[in-house]
Amino acid sequence: METTQHMNYKQAVTAPIFQVISKSADNLGVDCYVIGGFVRDFVLGRGHKKDIDIVAIGSGIALAKQVAKNLPNHPKVQIFKTYGTAMINYEGVELEFVGARKESYNEDSRNPIVEDGTLEEDQNRRDFTINAMAISLNSTTYGTLLDPFDGRKDLSEKRIKTPLDPAITFSDDPLRMLRAIRFATQLDFEIEVASFKAIKEQSQRIEIITKERINVELQKILESKKPSIGFLLLEKTGLLERILPELTDLKGVDELEGQKHKDNFYHTLEVVDNICPHTDNVWLRWAALLHDIGKAPTKRFSKKVGWTFHGHELKGSKMVYFLFKRLKMPLNDKMKYVQKLVFMSSRPIVLAQENITDSAVRRLVFDAGEFAEDLMTLCEADITTKNPYKFKKYHHNFKLVREKIVEVEERDRLRDFQPPISGETIMKTFNLGPSREIGVIKEFIKEAILDGVIPNEPQKAFELMLKKGTDLGLKIADEK
Ligand code: CTP
Repeated sequence: METTQHMNYKQAVTAPIFQVISKSADNLGVDCYVIGGFVRDFVLGRGHKKDIDIVAIGSGIALAKQVAKNLPNHPKVQIFKTYGTAMINYEGVELEFVGARKESYNEDSRNPIVEDGTLEEDQNRRDFTINAMAISLNSTTYGTLLDPFDGRKDLSEKRIKTPLDPAITFSDDPLRMLRAIRFATQLDFEIEVASFKAIKEQSQRIEIITKERINVELQKILESKKPSIGFLLLEKTGLLERILPELTDLKGVDELEGQKHKDNFYHTLEVVDNICPHTDNVWLRWAALLHDIGKAPTKRFSKKVGWTFHGHELKGSKMVYFLFKRLKMPLNDKMKYVQKLVFMSSRPIVLAQENITDSAVRRLVFDAGEFAEDLMTLCEADITTKNPYKFKKYHHNFKLVREKIVEVEERDRLRDFQPPISGETIMKTFNLGPSREIGVIKEFIKEAILDGVIPNEPQKAFELMLKKGTDLGLKIADEK
């Protein structure tokens, strides 16, 4: 990034849309700039952003209207009067227009008291030096970079730093504390010492931020290449305890009578990092993050067996619901998916420690259904043992489990299991009305399939039904 001094910032704004904005600003006689994430990502060579922030020294709404006028097809301008902003969705790119502001915020909410300002005043009130860089779009100064806080230096030295005294920047908008950590995670940057200290001092102010906004940041941290960077920072600043206390409760190693258990917090972070190269499914990453949360409330010690966490999977899956609800996350199939993976998270491990039997694998596939592979991915990530012998052994066993899953699937198609014999067939065959025996026979057939006594085939199931029915003392209808 040494080359940033010599970078040609005109190259950032070659897209035709910038010419249209330039012309529109000149038409209105206002100065305007592209600012924020777009400029940052250009300097980083990070590809094209799908949202572009434009700041006008004047009315952002008027500029947006003029831009829409000058664009072919005259796209719709969405106006947010209270914020003085306007948005145009053009060819899949969101253009956000705002008038330069000097702002101060309410103590108790994020709602700013807005006053018109200069470009410098607007840059002052932005979150980080790397997000405060602007490139001029007016024709006479087209492509000039304005970087009053040397954001380029912080980019090249991989630093997150506020333009003003961090106490002010974070107090203005406490969401920025999470944004700092999110950017540090996404970009693998350090948070500068004073900024870090200010987050620590103000962590309680996160309470005024809506859960929805907190979620967006958590999600982005989890979507990063190495989420542990973010979760460690959240923990060190005191934010994690306020947002996800279920995770901080996992911290620590207890020792009694010479018996220790592992620190489940650091273990969890290792699991999350481990799973990332294998999946972009953020809900599977959530499952990795939450798979052990039931361990804090179920932890017990006994002289005989040492530390135990009996039933932590069930407890954890119940906690997932309350956690999702508290954070206003969707209480839909995504949550159920996370719950199921948490609930089943120990199954493959138990299985792989013993002899891997067909029937155990069959039951695993039956219970996990369509999530069987994801469950295996989670369990493989869960192997954090530092004992190379055990590490190899578990991975080897999981490979066998995966192979067996395929075999069992080919034979018995157990995902979306539909009983091969319907209740109706049983009723007809034995001339029965609705009765307990129907359930008994169906369960018997299911168990026989899971145990591998018969394959999942209607003919075999029919024969078994006849046998079981007779054993139960039922008479076959034709013979009556
Ligand atoms: N900004 C800010 N404080 C916030 C949110 C945003 O100062 N709490 C400013 C920053 O200058 C930021 C710009 O508004 O660059 C746009 O914000 P946003 O679109 O949320 O983020 P980007 O920086 O564009 O980054 P990304 O899209 O990767 O989140």
